[in-house]
Amino acid sequence: MLNIVVLVSGGGSNLQALIDAEKNGILKSGKIVKVISDRESYAEVRAEKNNIPFERVVRKDFSNKEEFCDKLIDEIQKENADLIILAGFLSILTEKFTKIYENKIINVHPSLIPSFCGDGMYGLKVHKAALKKGVKVTGATVHFVNAITDGGAIILQKPVGVMENDTPETLQKRVMEQAEWKILPMAAEYFCSGKLKIENDVVKIKED
Ligand code: GAR
Repeated sequence: MLNIVVLVSGGGSNLQALIDAEKNGILKSGKIVKVISDRESYAEVRAEKNNIPFERVVRKDFSNKEEFCDKLIDEIQKENADLIILAGFLSILTEKFTKIYENKIINVHPSLIPSFCGDGMYGLKVHKAALKKGVKVTGATVHFVNAITDGGAIILQKPVGVMENDTPETLQKRVMEQAEWKILPMAAEYFCSGKLKIENDVVKIKED
């Protein structure tokens, strides 16, 4: 059983999808041992309700991102984490952090990377940009995290149709329900059961 630490910033619906996946056996090779939030968030309530140890490491309490990330590294090392999941985590990690946990951090992003991603592209902004561009299909991506924002190797993607009367909010909801909440737990289980292999920056999923 691998140790998973989940980093969050917001509502924590992706954290909830991971908790539910653990309960219903979709995520069976890893266990969430800690949730860390970089601000006050509803994710804290979800962790508490499910008796998962919770820590708040507030980005604003640190004068720079190096000190903030060093504190995160300390907390994560205490847990002997094998996998770190960014589930709606909005702070950018330092290169030091991504090096220490190379190929051990995964993130969920609410678009089909390489569209609508990179610095400053998060949450509703992603869906606003997709609607502005008029794409007919969007979706979600789970990928490994490296020093480039949303630049790591892609693990799973799932497309979601855009509807003519969509608002950023309705699109966000559909992308979460139809894509994010499904592919994030699935990717976590693939990782924890040793099914992911990276060859030349491309992820291969080993067959059973
Ligand atoms: C999710 O849509 C997630 O994909 C997105 O923030 C939302 C968090 O929701 N993350 C990013 O945009 C990261 N670039 P949640 O707190 O309810 O899981």
